[in-house]
Amino acid sequence: MKRWLAAEHINRLSANPAHCTRTTLPLDIDLRRPFVPEGYTQLYYTPIYTTLNFEQRLRYNQLFGLRINEYIMMLEADLVERLLTPLLRLPQIVADAAFVHAMTTMMEEESKHFAAFAALNRACRPDLYPLGKDRLFSRLPAWTQAMFWMVGALAGRYAFALWYLMAMEESSMAMAREMIRHPETETLGALDLAFVSVHREHMKDEARHLHIDGRMIEQCMGSAGKAKRVNAWLFQAMLRGITRPTRSGSGVMVIHQLVREMPELSSRKEEMIQAILALEKNRAFQESLFNRRMMPVTFQVFDHTPELANLGERMWGYDRR
Ligand SMILES: [Fe+2]
Ligand SMILES: [Fe+2]
Repeated sequence: MKRWLAAEHINRLSANPAHCTRTTLPLDIDLRRPFVPEGYTQLYYTPIYTTLNFEQRLRYNQLFGLRINEYIMMLEADLVERLLTPLLRLPQIVADAAFVHAMTTMMEEESKHFAAFAALNRACRPDLYPLGKDRLFSRLPAWTQAMFWMVGALAGRYAFALWYLMAMEESSMAMAREMIRHPETETLGALDLAFVSVHREHMKDEARHLHIDGRMIEQCMGSAGKAKRVNAWLFQAMLRGITRPTRSGSGVMVIHQLVREMPELSSRKEEMIQAILALEKNRAFQESLFNRRMMPVTFQVFDHTPELANLGERMWGYDRR
């Protein structure tokens, strides 16, 4: 089992600028470049993708890249805040001053990341993100709002969303690593350098956050027994909303925006939406969301949690070991 860094060690790293995310990078975006690896977009997993021409695929990739940034921002602003604030009141956390400091620093860092990704999206498309508007694709649907409310309300007793937070923090690092290792995309040429640089910087803080997540899971999720089983059940219920694209979800909102910008695609809009909704049952797509290559540390935590023995039924990419 992974050994987590001691809180004192985490605090020393977070006080050292060399280990911290810089958020003042130059943002010279080249709009002839794609923003994210094609396999991180939804349409890529549908038969429609190869029928789109280069310009259409490029624009879709860029819009989806903005949506990925917004998704990371949503986790950092909404989920981290709602989840960690109640955890900071738990007696087992309060008793450990160094760890309280590490968690508080993490929350501060996440709010800086939010601002950095908002600035990146604005630099990419100032027309879509005028000053004061940070969200285009992630205006939370009622279902997600309710889920986040529940995460906060239950966190003190059931901190199941920590598993999700850990998976998402590790997958944001995996995407950044993939962008650095494979700057050339399959069909769209090289990734935009400024876009990649923001994600590369983001990894520095996230590498520490993963250790904080691991410790929080150990301290707040309960040991064996009923509480752990309830946590496992709630986590798997939460996953359903995450792995199933919906008509009001952000992936379909990207399609609406694509068609607004490229009206020649209007006759294919419904076809694209249907293809995205069908991804609920698409194994390659589902495995792209959660897999051991992207999140080895999180999967190891799952492996050591007997209550998550059936996780693979809901999370298709999970290969229990
Ligand atoms: Fe972050
Ligand atoms: Fe983080």
